[in-house]
Amino acid sequence: MARVLFSVRMDEDRRASLAGIPSGAFEAIVLEDLPSPARESAWAEADVLVCGGFRADIPEDLPARAPRLRMVQVLLAGVDHFPFERLPPGAVLCSNAGAYNVSVAEHAMALLLAAAKDIPRRTEEIRRGTFDQAAPSKGLHGSTLVVLGLGGIGSEVARLGHGFGMRVLGISRSAQGPPAVAEAANLDDLPRFASLADFLVVALPLTRRTEGLIDRHVLAAMKDDAVLVNIARGKIIVEDDLYEHLKVHPRFRAALDVWWAYPAGREGRPFHRPFHELPNVLMTPHVAWAVPAQRRRTMDAALQNVLLFLRGERPRNIVDPAEYVRELPRQA
Ligand SMILES: NC(=O)c1ccc[n+]([C@@H]2O[C@H](COP(=O)([O-])OP(=O)(O)OC[C@H]3O[C@@H](n4cnc5c(N)ncnc54)[C@H](OP(=O)(O)O)[C@@H]3O)[C@@H](O)[C@H]2O)c1
Repeated sequence: MARVLFSVRMDEDRRASLAGIPSGAFEAIVLEDLPSPARESAWAEADVLVCGGFRADIPEDLPARAPRLRMVQVLLAGVDHFPFERLPPGAVLCSNAGAYNVSVAEHAMALLLAAAKDIPRRTEEIRRGTFDQAAPSKGLHGSTLVVLGLGGIGSEVARLGHGFGMRVLGISRSAQGPPAVAEAANLDDLPRFASLADFLVVALPLTRRTEGLIDRHVLAAMKDDAVLVNIARGKIIVEDDLYEHLKVHPRFRAALDVWWAYPAGREGRPFHRPFHELPNVLMTPHVAWAVPAQRRRTMDAALQNVLLFLRGERPRNIVDPAEYVRELPRQA
């Protein structure tokens, strides 16, 4: 029977998800449950690894330590943190794209609405004793929403935006989108779409192609009072360019959940430029995914993909390392 090694911390939700797998589907080996001497052989016998996907989750000597490995399933939707040089030759790497649609799309809409209605600023005014009913607000109905990335999260954002009566335009590699999208295109149309956007939501993976995609040229093409929402990865936007754009265009707003430089702990700011001094930026600390139901959903999606693979079917979300690194991992 195939052995699936879980090197992630297995909390109650993750264990409940694992308990739901039919018996006989695979032998589950939970690394943290093993005494230290048994851990080495657990790696050696694993056919599939379920792991976090950060560099710290993947041992440097993974190919030697886990010679039988045929699949690495990460729990994160984005694999931009994965150390591709440690992927064993012959093992397929799968992301968990599509597992975070509901939580992250909800958060994207929360940021979008908060920015449109300028809720943090109005709240602060009332705290200070100002009751300004002439303060401007931006409507959603009849406006144009551009969604970059029409995968799991982007499609859900498109559906919600359509529900608010927005005209939704979207960008994917295939130029295909769900029914909520009035027009879909690929990145060649980004300048045109950017100029039409009242709201632009970034829901792309961070790859070689998308790093620095939103730069001063894209920002300059956008309307002066547009709202830019990023729930994907910070580095898709050029930090300096966004900072300068926000300073010069006070009616432009950015609502950001993801950042350029993450503090090591709870203290610190996740950027190099003083975004916190700008009134036209709204900020959350990379928590779009963090609703209670998400931990269970994340593991459920990962396990369904492992089952597909073990049944001999093509798993979802196979990652092409060439999209992320110039040098491909050494082939056997
Ligand atoms: N803030 C958070 O808490 C949080 C949580 C989860 C995920 N995320 C981020 O959100 C990202 C998206 O997640 P997802 O589950 O929606 O992923 P997904 O289902 O794989 O969707 C990615 C979308 O991006 C498109 N795309 C990729 N490369 C492109 C390119 N070069 N040009 C145009 N379109 C391109 C894909 O196009 P095709 O459809 O044509 O393939 C697809 O529509 C993740 O990679 C992760 O970085 C953030």
